[in-house]
Amino acid sequence: MKRKQERFKIIEERENVIERSKPNYTTIKGRWREHFKNDNPITIELACGRGEYTIGLASRFPERNYIGVDIKGERIWKGSTLAVEQGLDNVAFLRTQILLIESFFDEGEVDEIWITFPDPRPRKRDIKRRLTNPRFLTMYKKLLKPGGYIRFKTDNTQLFDYTLEELQLRTDIINFEFTRDIYSSSLRPECFDIKTKYEEAFASEGETIKYLRFRFTG
Ligand SMILES: C[S@@+](CC[C@H](N)C(=O)[O-])C[C@H]1O[C@@H](n2cnc3c(N)ncnc32)[C@H](O)[C@@H]1O
Repeated sequence: MKRKQERFKIIEERENVIERSKPNYTTIKGRWREHFKNDNPITIELACGRGEYTIGLASRFPERNYIGVDIKGERIWKGSTLAVEQGLDNVAFLRTQILLIESFFDEGEVDEIWITFPDPRPRKRDIKRRLTNPRFLTMYKKLLKPGGYIRFKTDNTQLFDYTLEELQLRTDIINFEFTRDIYSSSLRPECFDIKTKYEEAFASEGETIKYLRFRFTG
């Protein structure tokens, strides 16, 4: 418990973390480019946990900015610590509920969205809480610049099938591709062989890793 409190204190003071205790929590919307002090494209990773994609992509692409979004303080502490240790100034972490995401990004402020191993929410009554439910997709569409990709990775077959069904119902998506086994797919290079903590765990249990990506039309 003490360690948790210490970590919360650290992230309260860290410049690369935006969370409720900070003044910029309510003013950052539309001002991420000021935060990063450049006009570089922005990728957000939703349900980032420790931010393996945020960190992995930021070190590969220093000319882009990366923001990991998660509600759990300890996970954000871990990701933000890695960013500091690696000297990555193109990384930020936003600690908030993803349902509130429109309070943090203006329309078209985001260039790309990764959704990495979100909670599968298998119960029927939780369908609305799945991060690929239409109410979330509607929000993502607003935040994304025209042509921006959404990329989604999961081990969970039920959530993947649900997401495919939702996307196949839509008439506003293009460049839609998917695989049920990223490691043996031609789409593999798009994922840069970055493995999140959950991916490592599920893949080592023999679960195949599913991936899809698409863009919204106008
Ligand atoms: C299964 S973990 C995956 C973490 C990481 N992406 C990985 O693959 O290792 C799901 C993450 O989503 C976060 N999360 C779930 N629902 C959320 C929500 N509504 N808003 C913000 N974070 C959420 C949890 O805190 C957790 O860190």
